[in-house]
Amino acid sequence: MTEVMRVLRREHANMAALVKTLDWQMREFEIGGQPDYDVIRSVVDYFLSFPDLYHHPKEDLVFERLKLRAPEVAERIGDLRREHEMIAARSREFSAGLKAILEEAHVPREAFVRWARAFIDVQMRHMDMEEADFFPSALQVLSDQDWQELETAMTTPDDPLFGENVGERFEHLHQSILRWQAEDQQARVAGSGAPGSSS
Ligand SMILES: [Fe+2]
Repeated sequence: MTEVMRVLRREHANMAALVKTLDWQMREFEIGGQPDYDVIRSVVDYFLSFPDLYHHPKEDLVFERLKLRAPEVAERIGDLRREHEMIAARSREFSAGLKAILEEAHVPREAFVRWARAFIDVQMRHMDMEEADFFPSALQVLSDQDWQELETAMTTPDDPLFGENVGERFEHLHQSILRWQAEDQQARVAGSGAPGSSS
C-alpha cells in the first residue's frame, strides 16, 4: 500500500460515512419527519469544498499516470475525469435545491428527494467502482517511482472536517459525527453477543 492510496482510501471512508449520514437524514424527510438541515447543509458544503476540490484531482493524477502506463486498463475503467465532473454537478444541483428549501422557496418535495437520492447514489456507485477496479489496477500497474512522483505532485490542504483543525462551519457536523460514533459504539457493546442484532 502506498501513502497516496492510504490517503485516498481514508478520504473514501470519511465520504462514505457522510453519505450514510445524508441517507439517514433523507429517510427522515421521506417519512415526513424533520431532518437536521444544518447537518445536510454541512455535508453538501463539505463535498463541494473538499472532495470536489482536493480528492478528485488527486485521483485524476493517478488516473493520468495509469493511462500512460496501461492505456487498455484505463480505457476499461472509463473516463474518470468526466465522472468527477458529473459528480460535482450533482453536488451543485443538490446544494442549490437545499438552498431553495432553506430560503423557503417552493420546491416540490419529490424534486428535493430526487436530487438528494441522485447525489447519494452517484457518490456511492462511483466510490465502489474506484475501490473495486481503479485502485487495485493502479496499485498493480504503477511503480514505486510513479507513486513517489505522484505524492510529490499532490497538494492537500488540511481537511476542514476530518483534519486537525475543524473549520467553524463544520463544527456542528463534526460534533454530530462524534456523538453518533459514540452511540454506535455503545450499541455495539450492548448488542455484542446477541445474534441477529445488526444495524
Ligand atoms: Fe474517489
